[in-house]
Amino acid sequence: MHVGENRTHHRGSLPALNQSVTVLGLSFSNPLGLAAGFDRTGELVPSLAAHGFGHIEFGTVTPATGRAATLGRIRSRMRIGINIGSARPGLDEQVIEDYVATLRQVYGLCDYVVANLSAPALHRDGNMSGIDMLVKRLCVARDVLSAVGGHRVPLLVKLEARRHRTAFPAAIMALRGSGLDGAVLVSDSLDRIHTISTYLDGLTVISVGGVRLAEDVKARIAAGASLVQVHRAYADGGAARIRRILKGLTEPTEHHR
Ligand SMILES: Cc1cc2nc3c(=O)[nH]c(=O)nc-3n(C[C@H](O)[C@H](O)[C@H](O)COP(=O)(O)O)c2cc1C
Repeated sequence: MHVGENRTHHRGSLPALNQSVTVLGLSFSNPLGLAAGFDRTGELVPSLAAHGFGHIEFGTVTPATGRAATLGRIRSRMRIGINIGSARPGLDEQVIEDYVATLRQVYGLCDYVVANLSAPALHRDGNMSGIDMLVKRLCVARDVLSAVGGHRVPLLVKLEARRHRTAFPAAIMALRGSGLDGAVLVSDSLDRIHTISTYLDGLTVISVGGVRLAEDVKARIAAGASLVQVHRAYADGGAARIRRILKGLTEPTEHHR
């Protein structure tokens, strides 16, 4: 990761951030992104581009979405991530096949891919048996796509890691040494983000969950995240909220934990 400011785990005042971030081998115009779920298919990306996000992650795209094949390459200054999954519950062989099929479908359409393991309604999380197999199969599929296409697209997993002092989710353990590039971590615990970022030892952490202010973004970055996403802050506060956060990133702030 290359950034212009100190990114140690900060507990006092938080410095202004240089807006641009280079991570996953990609440069992002700023660290703030829109999380998956707001735009399931990518059709809103052209209108969302006006708000100043450094990236937008759309999805979750599944084989049942049925629209990913027609997305085409979206041209924008923003980075585009696609979040993939399965509409089936649990984590069995068919579900793994859905993830792999969707990875193949979206591989050439985006800057990075996220395999979503945070799907409580589908009884799927980062702690299930089958995680190791899913990670292995995704890595093999990505390596083949990369060799055939001559272009390696970063691949991450998204999972919840909310609670302090509990064991890491199995998916975090499976990540290290797997060939995957990092995790989108759903957590509002700075300690948790810090511990997991340290454990992942150089892999990329994207933080999401409970981010409403520029101070939250700075604190997540100080805790070890490289990029930070919002969902509800945009859904509730719209473009004005995003402008305020982006402006706040360029100013030093006192942070009270
Ligand atoms: C209505 C709604 C739909 C969502 N759909 C998805 C989804 O399809 N895929 C996904 O990975 N996350 C989805 N999420 C989770 C968000 O991406 C994000 O992780 C979560 O809302 C926490 O961030 P926030 O506190 O900024 O809202 C959804 C969230 C909401 C509120």
